[in-house]
Amino acid sequence: MEPKLIHRGKVRDVYDVGQGMLHLVSTDRLSAFDIVLADTIPHKGEVLNDVSAYHLQMAGRAGIPTHYVDRTGSGTMLVYRLGMIPVEVIIRGYLYGSAWDRYRRGEFSLPSGTEPRKGAKFSEPMVEFTTKLEASDRPVTADEILHNDWMSANEIAYVVATALRVHQIVEENAAKGGILLADQKLEFGRNLMIDDVPILGDEVGTPDSSRFWNAELYADNYRAGNDQPSFDKQYVRDYLLSARGWDKKRPPAGTHLTEPLLTPEVVARTAEKYLEARTRIITLA
Ligand SMILES: Nc1ncnc2c1ncn2[C@@H]1O[C@H](COP(=O)(O)OP(=O)(O)OP(=O)(O)O)[C@@H](O)[C@H]1O
Ligand SMILES: [Mg+2]
Repeated sequence: MEPKLIHRGKVRDVYDVGQGMLHLVSTDRLSAFDIVLADTIPHKGEVLNDVSAYHLQMAGRAGIPTHYVDRTGSGTMLVYRLGMIPVEVIIRGYLYGSAWDRYRRGEFSLPSGTEPRKGAKFSEPMVEFTTKLEASDRPVTADEILHNDWMSANEIAYVVATALRVHQIVEENAAKGGILLADQKLEFGRNLMIDDVPILGDEVGTPDSSRFWNAELYADNYRAGNDQPSFDKQYVRDYLLSARGWDKKRPPAGTHLTEPLLTPEVVARTAEKYLEARTRIITLA
């Protein structure tokens, strides 16, 4: 059958190619704060696709059912079509980002033995869920997931255990390239032709779905109370906050901007970050 565009996401275009399969096309589009920028980052799509394919295959070898079929070209991947479960699974190894903000508001409890300090390593990684259907991500409890029939209790238990295994796989591999995995997001879906457990789908361990830090710089920054420089779009976020004033006023989540905002230098340095992440993750494995 003729490939049919069924979804244009923030970053990826999804084509139905028949026989229960989809073609995922990772573009060079960039989103920050859930806003799609008009600027594109050269090589970003190919990096996301390579790194995700790599991690999906590693998970598959570890016996975790995934949607991965084949990497079909630069920036493209063939996958089994899933019925996506409408929650995002967040695995956190460190107290940072929205978890740190929530902790300071008294809305986030730390695993016991964790230092109450920005960037602290949790005594053990923890899993939480956020909604996928709303414009901006909101934490949801297991009770709410059950109540909405998004997952059964067995599925929740499976997803939590599997997410922790995937996290460990991505983390151990990244460590070999001097990258520290602070947190990441995973998505699961259902396809009874593959397995009767939730199948790992979407992208895995990319700079878009994960917060990667430079392992060499971590300890010094942590002690000094500094932010951690990262291999992901944190660089773009920082630019938008400081140079564009997005800390005070920014477009609502879901906006697609039409005017470029980034300087050529920010674009070039961001592209370098993505390419460096791929080199560290894939060749040093
Ligand atoms: N195997 C699969 N079967 C069906 N859908 C999938 C599969 N893998 C990923 N998806 C979905 O394809 C889309 C990928 O596009 P992308 O990541 O750009 O979207 P997004 O911007 O994150 O989310 P949104 O769908 O809210 O725009 C996501 O909605 C994701 O849930
Ligand atoms: Mg996505």
